[in-house]
Amino acid sequence: MMKILVINGPNINMLGIREPEIYGKATYSNLVEYVEKAASRLNVEVAFFQSNHEGSMVDAIQEAYGKFDGIVINPAAYTHTSVALLDALKSVGIPSVEVHISDVRQREDFRQVSFVRDACVATIMGKGFDGYVEAMEVLRGKQKES
Ligand code: DQA
Repeated sequence: MMKILVINGPNINMLGIREPEIYGKATYSNLVEYVEKAASRLNVEVAFFQSNHEGSMVDAIQEAYGKFDGIVINPAAYTHTSVALLDALKSVGIPSVEVHISDVRQREDFRQVSFVRDACVATIMGKGFDGYVEAMEVLRGKQKES
């Protein structure tokens, strides 16, 4: 069975409380539940990691090497700042998909840059929690191709 690691960055643990007009009222544990259900439908094994710390996210990506076949990553604010996350994804070479709950294209200028995008096979944004499910579908499709 394909193994996917879902990594969420800073403040994603605050879902449900943080800016509900942008991110909705559902919580991080609702997200985990939602993605777990979809994963069992898709017949993929899924694990979750959330951190507010850039270095811990780098560690999680490195530790995925040899263990996971795909990464779904919402680096949150680090999307727009982190060369370290880009380098980590490139280092392990695990097929990865970038996800954003909100449609960052419609938001501030400082959110228009994504450092991780270069290391990702696709970017999905503005689809809420479904973006994570779509990302798993993309990764599953990639695995079937190879
Ligand atoms: C986000 C978008 C980022 O710009 C922001 O910093 C986040 C969440 C999203 O999921 O829409 O924290 O990645």
